[in-house]
Amino acid sequence: MKKAFITGITGQDGAYLAKLLLDKGYEVHGGVRRISQPENTRLDILGVSNDVHLHEFDLTEHNNIFRVIRDIEMDEFYNLAAQSFVGSSWELPVYTADVDGMAVVRILDTLRTIRPETRFYQASTSEMFGLVQEVPQSETTRLYPRSPYGVAKVYGHYITMNYRESFGMHASSGILFNHESPLRGKEFVTRKITLGLAALAHGGDQPVELGNMDAKRDWGFAQDYVEGMWRMLQQDEADDYVLATGVTTTIRDFFTYAAEALGMDLEWSGENENETATDRKTGKLVMKVNKKFYRPAEVDLLIGDPSKAQEKLGWKASVDIQNLAQMMAKSDFDAHR
Ligand code: NAP
Ligand code: GDD
Repeated sequence: MKKAFITGITGQDGAYLAKLLLDKGYEVHGGVRRISQPENTRLDILGVSNDVHLHEFDLTEHNNIFRVIRDIEMDEFYNLAAQSFVGSSWELPVYTADVDGMAVVRILDTLRTIRPETRFYQASTSEMFGLVQEVPQSETTRLYPRSPYGVAKVYGHYITMNYRESFGMHASSGILFNHESPLRGKEFVTRKITLGLAALAHGGDQPVELGNMDAKRDWGFAQDYVEGMWRMLQQDEADDYVLATGVTTTIRDFFTYAAEALGMDLEWSGENENETATDRKTGKLVMKVNKKFYRPAEVDLLIGDPSKAQEKLGWKASVDIQNLAQMMAKSDFDAHR
């Protein structure tokens, strides 16, 4: 039986990956922060919280990382933990650099010292492309991060490549474009929209307040993406791969798809900070822009080229944006009930 360790097992991807690895017969271990206990909600929702082995773990503690690696003797190490909210990274730039950047070398250097044969996965991100230098973005596109989060992730990405090249470690980076699900954190725009719309559909009267409606994202379903992570670690050679759908959508269009899934018929009016959406059926204001949610620097367009993953890993996104919006909106609508 193979043993895997997942940092960030309580997060969206961590929970889906834990389920996937258990289904594949792995012994699954995961790191949890003391402050998260006993909130294993996502693991509970997927019905796996009793099947995983949880260890107290924080990416900022080098000796804690050392002991976990020494004691668990894992075959595969998935580093999914992060300060993952881009918006907060301007408020917490130093912390974000430590957790999303420096922690990666803490792990890699410990693995190199005591378990160099362990296969390592780093959660890199399309946010590294930032002010995009080509369209669509692939593994060879020049990086131009636009947030402290993106900058920290660039360090994590390059140090993973460097340990692979310097020490021959099986260390891979998945450059993942946005992926969402009913387990998505409430601060991210898709979930914020589907939670807000579900409350409105149940009679609420608070419009969803959003920032930049023109930003475009390449959104897929998280469950597909954790399968891609696992496939990367099953290759003979470690490498870097983009996982994406190849389709990009504005925040406005995602909002429209989610609203339609809940039976709304939107009328849009105004522009920029005066933009609003009203449900023609009820006359209710369902969206208004609030400048508070604008970012100091924006990533306007992300669209990934997943052809390398398709060719080498046999990986392909299986859920399109309309179905993703519908899945999330209906899940939040049912949960609200
Ligand atoms: P998420 O839901 O926000 O989960 C983040 C996880 O990291 C949580 O389990 C959190 O624990 C843990 N964590 C945060 N700080 C930590 C620390 N100091 N020490 C140990 N654990 C810590 O994120 P996600 O959406 O699953 O994303 C997984 C990874 O992929 C992240 O690295 C993210 O940056 C990256 N990524 C995500 C996407 C996406 O679209 N989802 C795209 C590209 C890359 P708590 O439960 O205690 O908060
Ligand atoms: N969160 C949020 N809240 N975003 C908003 C809002 C709002 O009210 N209004 C507009 N947006 C816009 C943001 O400005 C951004 O352009 C876009 O919606 C997506 O924001 P998020 O959902 O917060 O995701 P993200 O793309 O910044 O980051 C996510 O994807 C990255 C991969 O590209 C996170 O999962 C990162 O961890 C991940 O690396």
